[in-house]
Amino acid sequence: MCGIIAITTSSKVNVSKMITDGLKKLEYRGYDSVGIATINNGKINILKDAGTIDKVNNRLSLENLQGTIGIGHTRWATHGPPSRENAHPHSDCTGNIIVVHNGIIENYLELKENLLKKGHNFSSETDSEVFAHLMEEELKQKNHELSFINAFKRVLAKIEGTYAITLIHSEEPETIFLARKDSPLVIGIREDTKFAASDIPAFLEYTKKVIVLKNGEIATLTPQAVYIEKNGFRIQPKPVIVSWTAASAQKSGYPHFMLKEIHEQPIALRNTLKIDLNVINKASSKILDAERIIFLACGTSYHAALSGYHQFQRILKKKPVYKVIASEFESYSHLFDEETLIFAISQSGETLDVMKALSPARKLGASIISIANVVDSSIPRLSHISLYTKAGPEIGVAATKTHTAQVSLLARLALQLEYDTGLVEKNEFNQNLESLISEIPQVTRSVINQNEFKAKSLASIISNQNHAYFLARGMSIPVALEGALKLKEISYIHAEAFPAGESKHGPIAIVESMFPVIMIAPNDRTAKKMLSNAEEMRARGAYIISVTEKDHNIIERSDYTFIVPKTMSPLVRPITYVIPLQMLAYYAAVRRGFDPDKPKNLAKTVTVE
Ligand code: M6R
Repeated sequence: MCGIIAITTSSKVNVSKMITDGLKKLEYRGYDSVGIATINNGKINILKDAGTIDKVNNRLSLENLQGTIGIGHTRWATHGPPSRENAHPHSDCTGNIIVVHNGIIENYLELKENLLKKGHNFSSETDSEVFAHLMEEELKQKNHELSFINAFKRVLAKIEGTYAITLIHSEEPETIFLARKDSPLVIGIREDTKFAASDIPAFLEYTKKVIVLKNGEIATLTPQAVYIEKNGFRIQPKPVIVSWTAASAQKSGYPHFMLKEIHEQPIALRNTLKIDLNVINKASSKILDAERIIFLACGTSYHAALSGYHQFQRILKKKPVYKVIASEFESYSHLFDEETLIFAISQSGETLDVMKALSPARKLGASIISIANVVDSSIPRLSHISLYTKAGPEIGVAATKTHTAQVSLLARLALQLEYDTGLVEKNEFNQNLESLISEIPQVTRSVINQNEFKAKSLASIISNQNHAYFLARGMSIPVALEGALKLKEISYIHAEAFPAGESKHGPIAIVESMFPVIMIAPNDRTAKKMLSNAEEMRARGAYIISVTEKDHNIIERSDYTFIVPKTMSPLVRPITYVIPLQMLAYYAAVRRGFDPDKPKNLAKTVTVE
């Protein structure tokens, strides 16, 4: 939530253009207001307003601000509605101390009250502005000669909550001050230029050399140097070189990132399945050693977790396997002990609800395995074993390729568990593995090719509707949940998913003529019952859309059909079945005139509770 970028350079370029471009790459984190501040000849310049980056840039020419040091912010409002006043950067009363912040300062009201009593004037309703005034106050204290960095540390000690903070001061015209607690910040390194940002794509065009700032670390950046410390001790982190390319963070001719990312799935899945065998073996033995397993995630990652849950239950039989929405972990925290394995899934690796559950679990001795897409992010760092999806950066707010990559990694793990528990022999395991690896990329490509036009056509039919149901049974339920989430989050059509058998216990009451009901119907043991559920809906006038295989009888009872190939491995189904639903959501959003990359009220990485 909220995107930050800061740049300091000794090359004689104005950083405002790079900051504006970087903010565009971070727009998925929030886009209700935007602002930039630079220092030029010791003077601070700030431009900011409510609106998207393009709109505000067109109005104010953000990218023409002069100066070789600057900070920028794209906002997802928490405290105070989107407005010019509430847009970042914020400054102190003197206008010399400038701050951008991502996170929530929980004790800001109390801090603000004290500052008001001391005569400070506030220009916004945000929690973030207190930081600039606290700095001003610290620097005013004449009784102790405070260096700027020490004042910065004293202010950090006063604030409670979560933060990625970036600060500049007119009297330190080359230095950027940074600190992080629970909200992400990464540093990019080039010889004459240093970057800080909420996410790597913001500066990927300029450098792939990255340091991920860890919780509690404070850093200063000058064009030539990066200095990091924690608890008063200098840290010498080893920068990593990321494999993502600058092109991977661009639309490359597609109208939206989401469509590009849907099309990138074959390659994302192929790369993900190239996982090191040692890591898979280690994860499998950790799972087998545990007394119980808890899947933990939010949103789309939770739907991938549900697929894992179904598979693990099938394979591990009597071993208890739980599925927990991360923000609800407290109801399960009595299970956190040395015998428990937490399986955390998160694209960003920074979702606060997941982190808040993992911290106590770790303290109580639980083991943690995670799947994340962003290397070295917080959740992998809290884990004992980190598995990575190799999907490349995902910019669209609606997760697509990272979801199917998560599911493919879980399928790979399920195959390993089938073998390690003696459910299948070596030969069968090898065959299954080979077909999974060869089948997934090829079958996802053909699902996209065969269904994209159909998704576009269906979108024109259902985009006039206000509601839709997604029904499924058994292992297809996560697909129904994900289909409904995709449709509602980007097209704003109210969509709900139910176990198909449950639909007659209430949801069917609102079904009427043309009400879209999307049936996830593989030709498996659920086939007959799904057919009956389709009939029940049809009898009430529903418009039946089925996602199915070519020999399923449901086709005759459907008004519209997406056909997916029957795969050798049932583990591939949550991938093939979800792709038409991703495309349907995408085209419905476009048809209704919405930007699928930037759904209202949402941010890609949720770093607040
Ligand atoms: O980064 P994470 O996978 O932890 O994010 C979890 C959810 O916030 C995320 O999946 C969200 O539901 C997306 N909007 C789904 O498209």
